[in-house]
Amino acid sequence: PRSLGVPAAGLVLLVGASGSGKSTFAARHFAPTEVVSSDTCRALVADDAEDQSATPDAFDLLQHLVGIRLRRGLLTVVDATNVQSDARAQLVSLARSHDLLVDAIVLKVPARVAVERHRASGRTFGRVPVERIVERHDRDLRRSLRGLRREGFRRVHVLDGVEEVDAATIVRER
Ligand code: CTP
Repeated sequence: PRSLGVPAAGLVLLVGASGSGKSTFAARHFAPTEVVSSDTCRALVADDAEDQSATPDAFDLLQHLVGIRLRRGLLTVVDATNVQSDARAQLVSLARSHDLLVDAIVLKVPARVAVERHRASGRTFGRVPVERIVERHDRDLRRSLRGLRREGFRRVHVLDGVEEVDAATIVRER
């Protein structure tokens, strides 16, 4: 089992397609208040966690929340797909502006597993088919992987497959 070191007072980005298990992972390893989730932010600004038109406002709120927590020196975990480099870059620069370290934890789970989980739970994305969403995230993630280590993260932990995701443990480093 992999033991993942994360900064005790810093930022952690979860990176993975929808359905890869980011929220499940976050709930298992971190306190609820340490986790800032894009779905929660979307729900707060739209009354509907599936409303994709609310995404820009949801990300404004997410950045604002993360910024306040980092200013207060609190470990903060971003539960969002983070499969696009510009989304990651904004969060990396936010951590840097507070002189804090930022790590990435990549949940690399086969797209078919993510789709199957969404089917089983009845999760939908408005009228867009689940496969389309997950496959786009998966493609963005694959494109991201090569350059991820040069984006300013202290560490990039890649959990390859469901078993590695399930077995991982977190160590907070002072
Ligand atoms: N799930 C599962 N087994 C796991 C992890 C997750 O069956 N080991 C299920 C969850 O119960 C949920 C679905 O898969 O129904 C998606 O898991 P979630 O943790 O919500 O994935 P996220 O990556 O957070 O998805 P999203 O980005 O869409 O919020």
